[in-house]
Amino acid sequence: MDAIEVITTKRDGGALSTAQIDWVIDAYTRGAVAEEQMSALAMAILLNGMGRREIADWTRAMIESGERMDWSALDRPTTDKHSTGGVGDKITLPLAPLVAACGAYVPQLSGRGLGHTGGTLDKLESIPGWRASLSGPEMLAVLRRAGAVVCAAGSGLAPADHRLYALRDVTGTVESIPLIASSIMSKKIAEGTGALVLDVKVGSGAFMKTRERATELARTMVELGADAGVRTVALLTAMDRPLGLTVGNALEVAEAVEVLSGGGPSDVVELTVRLAREMLSASGTAGAKDPADALKDGSAMDAWRRMITAQGGDPDAPLPTAPETHTITAPATGVLSRLDAYAVGLAAWRLGAGRERREDPVSHGAGIVLHAKPGDTVHAGGPLMTLHADDPSRFPRATEALHDACQIGPTPAPDLLPLIIDRV
Ligand code: URA
Repeated sequence: MDAIEVITTKRDGGALSTAQIDWVIDAYTRGAVAEEQMSALAMAILLNGMGRREIADWTRAMIESGERMDWSALDRPTTDKHSTGGVGDKITLPLAPLVAACGAYVPQLSGRGLGHTGGTLDKLESIPGWRASLSGPEMLAVLRRAGAVVCAAGSGLAPADHRLYALRDVTGTVESIPLIASSIMSKKIAEGTGALVLDVKVGSGAFMKTRERATELARTMVELGADAGVRTVALLTAMDRPLGLTVGNALEVAEAVEVLSGGGPSDVVELTVRLAREMLSASGTAGAKDPADALKDGSAMDAWRRMITAQGGDPDAPLPTAPETHTITAPATGVLSRLDAYAVGLAAWRLGAGRERREDPVSHGAGIVLHAKPGDTVHAGGPLMTLHADDPSRFPRATEALHDACQIGPTPAPDLLPLIIDRV
């Protein structure tokens, strides 16, 4: 077998055989298939798609390219959540300790932000002392102590995906449903969770801009999970506007802590509670305690404090703040009918909350605090949002990104997506 045979099969619209897929993933992981060959194959897959069997084979081969974690030493079921990424999506922060407080273990391997979407690890790293890199035995120790762990995936987990994702990022081949589904599910299945809830975002701030594409992605991932024996469900949720009232690392941690204290914005609370119920139900641990109660009675907050402390963080330490702020005001009085998620994400990124290249640092204090969400009444000259940055020279480009982000009208836009759109 050789790489050219595999590439031309897909280029000409054929289905790759199981043997071809096993060979190409293994050879790519060993360095025997060149980056330019894999990039040609990824483009052929993006253009010609893959059938159900091919996607399942591709995912299995990526899992087999590395190690698979095993939590059978734990005395209760494991369950996890994956979000396809959005603007202001800090849900993992309250969710993981909340589910732990309700009786299941949450072993979550998370990522960093790239482009306009934030990353959970960047957010948590704004807590002084908190460590993202843990060994397998350290993960197990944190799980036993806190019930939840959120950390970086080691390089041994689905290494084929690690290389392929970086390659797709620079070759215009990210937006392929077979490649996205197999990339996400190979990591989640290798992580060893027993149950999985997928939060598939829809709208301008998401990978999937339309409900149809998001449904197709969700169905593909749910099937891959079922094939691998992981009980998997997916929710389609709104990402046409930001989630919550903060975008940016430490700002989002502060909002997550508000939710764990029984307060916080209603959309963040509603989505956190719904995802927690789904995670508990998928793992067969629903019933012991309802997540809405665990947010009110302090038990989710206790689990958060244990989780942060077990990973070296100080839950009582002040969070970093950016020294410079700039407030954008409403140009007219009326209802904020639209607040575009992508524009707000891009502005937060330009303020320093995100990174341009993988190796860049992020500013922990930078970001945006929203003073109004779609549906709220705003007054001419009143505050719409406050930008936070380490350096005021970042404000003009961030403001430029927000130029068309807000619309003020007599009523909310009729096509605003419901927070929870569908369940697959
Ligand atoms: N997240 C992933 O892990 N992989 C993709 O391909 C897209 C989003």
